Amino acid sequence: MTAPFAAGVRPHVVWHDVECGRYAADLELWDELAAGAAGPVLDVGAGTGRVALRLAARGHDLTALDRDPVLLAALEARARAANLGVETVVADAAAFALPRRFGLVAVPMQTLQLLPGPAERAGFWASARRALLPGGRVAAAVSVDLQAFDATAGLPVPDVGVVEGWRFVSQPVAIRPDGDGMRIERVRHLIAPDGERTLEEDAVRLAAVTPAGLAEEAAAHGLEAQELRHVPETDEHVGAEVVVLRG
Ligand SMILES: C[S@@+](CC[C@H](N)C(=O)[O-])C[C@H]1O[C@@H](n2cnc3c(N)ncnc32)[C@H](O)[C@@H]1O
Repeated sequence: MTAPFAAGVRPHVVWHDVECGRYAADLELWDELAAGAAGPVLDVGAGTGRVALRLAARGHDLTALDRDPVLLAALEARARAANLGVETVVADAAAFALPRRFGLVAVPMQTLQLLPGPAERAGFWASARRALLPGGRVAAAVSVDLQAFDATAGLPVPDVGVVEGWRFVSQPVAIRPDGDGMRIERVRHLIAPDGERTLEEDAVRLAAVTPAGLAEEAAAHGLEAQELRHVPETDEHVGAEVVVLRG
């Protein structure tokens, strides 16, 4: 019989860390953008704090926004443990209201593409613009060239984590066209310390976007495209384009 998790182990948090937490190819770019910001940094879709905690540790005044209170609670616990002050806000990236005090609104790791479509992105541009100091910047990382695959083409290496003897193995099994976006499908294998296995399926949809299309959308909200940065692909992660806009 499967044993319960040890106190403090939240599978939802561990899956997030396993699937997102080890991505590092973009970190130097966020360091650079935050260093150039004339004001606090807002990390939108901060999750458990991969970027937010790093920037806070570098001395930035950091606010972490996510719609998922469980992930933000994990971020807060890690911030406390590291003696970092990070403000957290549970809110939807498509409709948030924060004081106009940020020098950088950062949206790492395709979070902007998790918003279903142009209406929700319009809500994000308007919310970000309201929160931005004059001359501040919004930077959003997006993937524009996701290649479809399924199991017939062979599977990529899974993401794996081990916590208190439990193995969390997240296997990407397909990327398929889904309307005007792409659906990324995973099978999550959870292996208990006693060897018992359970499986669950997980999927997220990324809306199709282009840097030029995003620049046009953002311009309608007073954000001017400033530069386009590139994060190279790695063995485990697709590359990303980072659209940088000035308010
Ligand atoms: C791919 S993860 C990125 C996490 C973190 N930014 C990183 O780079 O490691 C996407 C995050 O966006 C959050 N998210 C998705 N849709 C959201 C929305 N509409 N509003 C706020 N957060 C959202 C998820 O809860 C998740 O934490």
